[in-house]
Order: sequence, then structure tokens, then C-alpha cells
Amino acid sequence: MNIIEKDKQYVASTYNRFPVVLKNGKGSLVCDENGNRYIDLGTGIAVSTFGVSDDVWAIAVSRQASALSHTSNLYYHEPCAELAEMLCKRTGFKKVFFSNSGAEANECAIKAARRYAQDKKGQGCFKIITLENSFHGRTITTLSATGQEKFHKMFTPLTEGFEYVAPGDTESLEMLISRGDVAAVMFELVQGEGGVVPLEKIFVEKIVDLCKKHDVLIVCDEVQTGNGRTGKLYCYENYGFMPDIVSTAKGLAGGLPLGATLLGDKVKDVFAYGDHGSTFGANPVCCAGALSVLSRIDQALLDGVKERETIIRKTLKDAKGINGVYGMGLMLGIDVDCGGPKLASELLKKGVLALTAKNRLRLLPALNIPKELLSEALEIIKETAAELC
Ligand SMILES: Cc1ncc(COP(=O)(O)O)c(C=O)c1O
Repeated sequence: MNIIEKDKQYVASTYNRFPVVLKNGKGSLVCDENGNRYIDLGTGIAVSTFGVSDDVWAIAVSRQASALSHTSNLYYHEPCAELAEMLCKRTGFKKVFFSNSGAEANECAIKAARRYAQDKKGQGCFKIITLENSFHGRTITTLSATGQEKFHKMFTPLTEGFEYVAPGDTESLEMLISRGDVAAVMFELVQGEGGVVPLEKIFVEKIVDLCKKHDVLIVCDEVQTGNGRTGKLYCYENYGFMPDIVSTAKGLAGGLPLGATLLGDKVKDVFAYGDHGSTFGANPVCCAGALSVLSRIDQALLDGVKERETIIRKTLKDAKGINGVYGMGLMLGIDVDCGGPKLASELLKKGVLALTAKNRLRLLPALNIPKELLSEALEIIKETAAELC
């Protein structure tokens, strides 16, 4: 059996994979098993912050793998403490809980919010408002938080306590928050899986006002938007407010599984010993990867993200078959006449790896993708979108 046949036979059939076997790569170029080259505009869904097998990252990770590959959370180790300090100092958050994925970072955020609200306002205060069209993960509780029915079907009963509001519907939001049983409002500032849809600033300001007024926690799911992706270290900076809790993962460790839940002043001490935990959370190798990634996300890199965003917008503006570019920084969704899924399949044949979100083509390239490679890929996108429309 070849790799594709073997995978189809033995791997649970949850993924509709593209028909290609990837073998190796460097930065924004990856190769398949036959030596064909692809420009990677997907980075494993916003994970490989500096592309695949980046040299600086690989050295940091392999050094740590040789020194101390794992220890349990019963002991202290340097990469964990250093990373928590770096995250807090760069954001103003006070403490961090480390896990392994975006869903787990959200689980921790939900537990922290419930704990805070119940300590402060009593057991009846546990509701969490999330948004329609959101995506927060695949565990039963984060599925329940996800405001898209198609993910709920066949997995009921869901975790209770989630209510959904349409983005922009300030009236319903106000009505729900005023009832007094809401612990938190949790949202993505750019709905990634929902089609790369940024929230309107005016709606976010309303959420912030209402949460402050009613002592309801503001939880930002920055699993996809975080770690430089939108041109700021975290996307809330684009909106000019400070959440109480931020969850992040994906690009944080640049290709290794690491989730982080950042806890602000109100919730920094909400957990006591034994309230939460994770065997692999804060794994030293993952933390070393994240230290390497975060220390490279400086102003020059963030300016580069914005510059690349401008290149993408300018190149695709008014192109045949392309109707608009949405999103922020290097998290962009493109409306195309032929539909994102069809275009992504054609692009693969022409040596470009791109993603989709709903019916849009989704681009999540490395934050440092060389501009020549980006331009080469954009020309292929333009050509292919014109051919297919
Ligand atoms: C906004 C958001 N939250 C949570 C998740 C879940 O993350 P993970 O797949 O690492 O559990 C994702 C994944 O796409 C996401 O985009």
C-alpha cells in the first residue's frame, strides 16, 4: 500500500485530505514525496509561524530536546517560567496556564470564568455568551461554545450554559448580560473558521462596555489570531482594549503543540492547587519553541506582516474572479467566483498550498514569507481564479 492508501485504511476518517504526501521543507517551501515543490500559504493552519523546520526554531527545539525533553508539572523548569514571564511582560497579563491545544486553552478559559463568577456572584452565575458563526474547538465543551449548529449535530447532549448572539446584535447581548447569570463573553476578534470575518469595532466596544458595567469577564479566543498573525502580538491590540482572559495556541510554539491561557488581574489567582492541570502542558521542548518564536515577534516583524498584507490586497484587487479580500494582517479570506474549495484544489496542482474557510480561500502564510515567493504564489492565484471563473 502507498501512504495515501495506508492512511485511508488505518487513520480515523475525520479529515478530507488533499491528495498529496508532504515530505520535507524549509520555511515557506515544502516538497512532496515525488520532489514537487509547493509554496505554503497555509502553515499547517497558522501554526508554523516562521515556516516549516525554520533553522533558528529547530536549533532552539533540538537543544531543549537534548537537555530535558519532558518533566511533569510536579517540578519547575526554566523554559516554562521564562515563557510565562515573557508572555506576561509583553502583554500585561499576570499569570499563564499552559496546555497543548487551542481547545484546551479555551477549556481553561471557561473554567477560570466559571470559577471567578461563582466565587463572586454565586453558583447560578455560569453562563457564557459566545457568537454565532464562531469556532472554539472540538471537545464537547468547546463544541458547545462554538456557535455553529453543524458542529453540534450528532454530539448532543452538549455542555450546558452557552448562549449565542449574532455578531453586531447589541440588543440581545445587552438583554442576556442584564439577567445577571452571565460569567463571560467569549469571542474571536476575527472569526477564522467562520470565513475570516473580523468583528466590527463598534460591536467590540459595546461588548467591552457591557462586560465592565456588569462585571462580566471578557474572554478573547486568540488561538488563530494570536502571536503576530494580525500584525500585532495579539489581535485585541488592534481594537484598543484589554481582555480579562486570552486563550492562544497554534502559532505560539511555531510547530509544536502548546496552548496558553493568559489570566488578567481579576482572574490571576482564580485557580488553587488541584483545580486544573495537564500532563503535557508546559512541555519543555514546546516552551523552548515558543520562547524562540515569541522573541522573534518584534516590531520589525509585525511591520513586515502589514507590508505583506498590503502586497496581497494590492495584487488581488480587481483581479478577474476575485471579489474581495477580508481579514487582518496575514489572516486573510478571499471571496472568489469559483468558490474557495475549488480554487484551493486547483492551486495544489500548480504548486501552491492554500486553505479554505466556509466558501472563501484562506491564506495564513508564514509571518516572514519571502516577498518573491508570496508574489509568485499570488500570480498563480490570480491566474487560476481567472481561469476558473
Ligand atoms: C479560534 C479557534 N479556537 C480554537 C480552535 C481549536 O484549536 P485546536 O485545534 O488546537 O484545539 C481553533 C482551531 O482552528 C480556532 O481557530
